Amino acid sequence: MQQKEICILGGSGFVGSAIVAKLDAAGCLVKVLTRRKESAKHLILLPNVQVVECNVLDYMALSNAIRGADAVINLLGILHQSRRVSFNLVHQQLPAHLAKICEDLSIKRLIHMSSLRAGKNAPSQYLRSKGAGEVALAAHQDALNITIFKPSIIFGRGDSFINLFANMAKILPAILLAKPNAKFQPIWVEDVASCFVASVESDATFGKTYELAGPKVYTFRELVQTVMTTLQLKRPIIGLNDALSYAQAFMMELLPVKLMSRDNIRSMETDSVSDMPFPTVFNLTPSALETVIPQYLVDQTPRGAYDRFRRSAAR
Ligand SMILES: NC(=O)c1ccc[n+]([C@@H]2O[C@H](COP(=O)([O-])OP(=O)(O)OC[C@H]3O[C@@H](n4cnc5c(N)ncnc54)[C@H](OP(=O)(O)O)[C@@H]3O)[C@@H](O)[C@H]2O)c1
Repeated sequence: MQQKEICILGGSGFVGSAIVAKLDAAGCLVKVLTRRKESAKHLILLPNVQVVECNVLDYMALSNAIRGADAVINLLGILHQSRRVSFNLVHQQLPAHLAKICEDLSIKRLIHMSSLRAGKNAPSQYLRSKGAGEVALAAHQDALNITIFKPSIIFGRGDSFINLFANMAKILPAILLAKPNAKFQPIWVEDVASCFVASVESDATFGKTYELAGPKVYTFRELVQTVMTTLQLKRPIIGLNDALSYAQAFMMELLPVKLMSRDNIRSMETDSVSDMPFPTVFNLTPSALETVIPQYLVDQTPRGAYDRFRRSAAR
């Protein structure tokens, strides 16, 4: 059988890297589009992966880059907008143009990443723009085989969410936690990647939208507590009320490195929890957070650091 060529936007990122590795292992030819080759250097050694520099927001360049692909995966997403790059541009206009380009080039398969609770009545600009992207794609459903995934928060080695709180717990005497009662249903990045890869050739997923959520619902406070328990750390978690949550996020927006914004807090006004069972078409039981995070946080515990030292000393 001829090798499928899959072109992937956002393939250098946290979720993208997991999907690229699985596509590579499945024998697909994978073309990763990135603004800077450096960002995808960890993928270059994979045998079936080609990394191509491309500004995907330049639609001529995008068209040239995806020409000839059998399927396109779009993972482009930002958590914070800037003066140059807005949510609307990345989450709505880009998918709309991408679908049009796919139609023009007769690329029939498009798999798109949205977010759980995205929609026009969502509380944050991030979620509303992701919802607008879904609507933009709906206009192409007749011409293209589109699948949309809507995950809750995603965890796994290299994530920014669990690792952020792990790092905070290590250096701070207490955690001042915004929106402590916000709810999440975290899903493992490898499970998300399996669903993407399975859907590439599964006709049953054409034209469908899937919510992806893990086996358990956590409040934000419970999640941070689970991280600390894994790291064997004891720090008080001080939950902030709404006014203080927004004030804290406002202060964080002033920092050079964006960790949290008021829009992120608005996203937490709605529970990132799915009302649906995990989609049976993927034949997968999602992994529990408690079984996975020790695999990548363990080196950060005192015992883990000792074991790592012993390993590096070959003892
Ligand atoms: N992580 C989660 O918990 C989570 C939950 C729900 C939904 N999602 C969605 O899943 C997708 C992937 O998330 P992720 O966590 O893997 O994100 P990530 O690690 O930040 O990766 C995002 C990718 O998008 C590309 N990108 C970012 N800004 C860009 C810009 N201005 N122009 C062109 N490309 C840009 C980057 O590619 P280059 O730097 O290589 O160009 C990067 O590879 C996103 O759409 C996100 O909204 C994530």
